[in-house]
Amino acid sequence: MAEASGIFYSLPEVWDFCLEKIYDKEKYVKGLISILGQRGITSRSKILDAGCGSGFPSLDLVSRGFDVAGADKSSEMIRQIRLNAKKRGLAIPAVHVMWSDLSRRFKPIFGAAYCRGNSLIYAASWEQNWIVPGRSREEIQKAIKNFYAVLKPKGLLYLDVTSKDEKPHKEIIGTVKTAHGDVEIEWAVQHDAKNKIRTWSILLAFPSTGEKKIYRSYSYLIDHAELVSFCREAGFKGIEQYVKVPGERNYSVFIGHK
Ligand SMILES: C[S@@+](CC[C@H](N)C(=O)[O-])C[C@H]1O[C@@H](n2cnc3c(N)ncnc32)[C@H](O)[C@@H]1O
Repeated sequence: MAEASGIFYSLPEVWDFCLEKIYDKEKYVKGLISILGQRGITSRSKILDAGCGSGFPSLDLVSRGFDVAGADKSSEMIRQIRLNAKKRGLAIPAVHVMWSDLSRRFKPIFGAAYCRGNSLIYAASWEQNWIVPGRSREEIQKAIKNFYAVLKPKGLLYLDVTSKDEKPHKEIIGTVKTAHGDVEIEWAVQHDAKNKIRTWSILLAFPSTGEKKIYRSYSYLIDHAELVSFCREAGFKGIEQYVKVPGERNYSVFIGHK
């Protein structure tokens, strides 16, 4: 009998695989630049990627001359963005900091901040195998207040969260080619509406060995009216809801103004 091959991937690597499949990256990056540009944000603006993860789309913006800094609470993600930047010959300042500490780390210097890739709902549960919904709610509120605090007057916040039409489902994401051969990816999403918990499971299958691995993440099942009220409480005005961003087909986008 063949020995198990022992193929291991970190969550940042798995998220990178998913990004290849769920986005037309070129289209989204152009879409994001145009949405920001229509609101006065250009390559001369200072931009914060709050929850930069492995570097999408910030590395693409940096490669186009934008001034972007990344911040993330995951040391694994910070390692991944640095690796991805090095592979592409790019430089991005990426700091290991929680959203709730952003205002201690940065003065109000940013013309824009974005928190995307459905990150906000993981404020108190990313890379954890448990969730306390009340704590998540509190951490989301603190995060939004901190985003507000690091923006310059009239700065804008771009936020995306779980799409309003999402229903519990299973979905084949596709097959990616990796150094260890093909990896098939499937997602399952469950909603516990009573306790406000969303469970997202990524299932990886390795056809070469028959192995399967599951990566499960819990997050806060946010209501969009609740999100808008958190933004208003933090001080944001003129909150734009369900902004159409070319290339964004996964999440619902909101933009608030300081
Ligand atoms: C789904 S990933 C998205 C990454 C990236 N924004 C993208 O679009 O690919 C969510 C990211 O949010 C980060 N994150 C979650 N909660 C955080 C918090 N409280 N403070 C800072 N980063 C956080 C995670 O570490 C992770 O990198």
